[in-house]
Amino acid sequence: MSGQTSTLISNIGELMTQDSEHRVLQDAAVVIEGERISWIGHASEAPSADERVDAGGRAVLPGWVDSHTHLIFAGDRTAEFEARMAGQSYSAGGIAVTTGATRAASDEELTRLAAGRVDEAVSQGTTYLESKTGYGLDLENEARSARIAAATVDEVTYLGAHLVPAGVDPEEYTDLVCGPMLDAVRPYVRWADVFCERGAFTEGQSRRVLSACREAGLGLRVHGNQLGEGPGVQLAVEFGAASVDHVNYLCEADIQALAGSWSGWDASTGSGSRGTVATCLPACDLSTRQPLAPGRVLLDAGVQIALASNCNPGTSYTSSMAFCVTTAVLQMHLSVHEAVRAASYGGALALGRESGNDVDGERAVGSIAVGHRADLHMLRAPSATHLAYRPGIPLTFAVWRAGVRAL
Ligand code: NIG
Repeated sequence: MSGQTSTLISNIGELMTQDSEHRVLQDAAVVIEGERISWIGHASEAPSADERVDAGGRAVLPGWVDSHTHLIFAGDRTAEFEARMAGQSYSAGGIAVTTGATRAASDEELTRLAAGRVDEAVSQGTTYLESKTGYGLDLENEARSARIAAATVDEVTYLGAHLVPAGVDPEEYTDLVCGPMLDAVRPYVRWADVFCERGAFTEGQSRRVLSACREAGLGLRVHGNQLGEGPGVQLAVEFGAASVDHVNYLCEADIQALAGSWSGWDASTGSGSRGTVATCLPACDLSTRQPLAPGRVLLDAGVQIALASNCNPGTSYTSSMAFCVTTAVLQMHLSVHEAVRAASYGGALALGRESGNDVDGERAVGSIAVGHRADLHMLRAPSATHLAYRPGIPLTFAVWRAGVRAL
């Protein structure tokens, strides 16, 4: 033992590891040492530890990895939601409403709102979170959003290319996104994203954004094919983006491009050359009344998928990953194991955090294995199946985030 406090969680009814061996252990135990997992196996073989937690036969899963959120915002869009439920279709125009409210909020207010959303997510089993900027849409407010996000979440994505502000020339705005605004956010962000969609950024503008951000050393992702077929998926694959998110409207060539991007990947061991993860956002699909992303088809084609909440005030005001998993099982025809995997390991893959280095502490998230970050989610249920079997029931019983009990 390392001298750090160790905790043995024993009497686990079902331990769904989502590790490279895809193990699901019955009557299992886990030992946490500091921020890392130091042992997993059958309860009867568990080593002793400083502290002991009796799981009482409950299930333990990896904490959710939410790889797509927009948490840095102020304001409310209830009226837009009500209009949509009354039959209006979603258009990206509401982004401007949130941008106005976000610009008007103080740093303290934005930080408080974002931290509250993180707390809400963690209390539901999320242990690793990404957030985008994208409700600032000028240099000062995008930089401020990036700074606040960097202090609040695990991974920050620059989404200056979310919407062209009213009255601004689209090409001039794209110049700003690719130049001074990128320089201003660069110290705070690891990723860049572009909303490549009719009404947002064209293929040409999206290419410029992706090229400039790649040149600046950022990893890439794309909002693509949300409101109709378009070039988003193909662009994401061409640029080697870590993920393309939404993917509601896909043609056969899009599915083949995504599948082809994973041809050098060994899914059974989680090694090889990585492709572009297709991130499905079922809560958003339901709230905007778009067809659900074809998660089953993508998996069957050999595409690695993630499930994420897309928590934002316009299209998906929820951070409930359990809701996404439930929907993926009931409506997208994923098995429970596949859905939990997409919401944990899949999110980690989309963020490039699925593998790590046990020596220098760059720890893997999204799966339960020795050396990985101790991010655990204990359910108030004997198996993960209850997430789909008991829809809407709050099943989170306990959460450990980097080895620290968070609930
Ligand atoms: O991921 N599609 C673009 N961005 C967000 C929605 C933003 C909004 O309407 O406020 C999304 O759904």
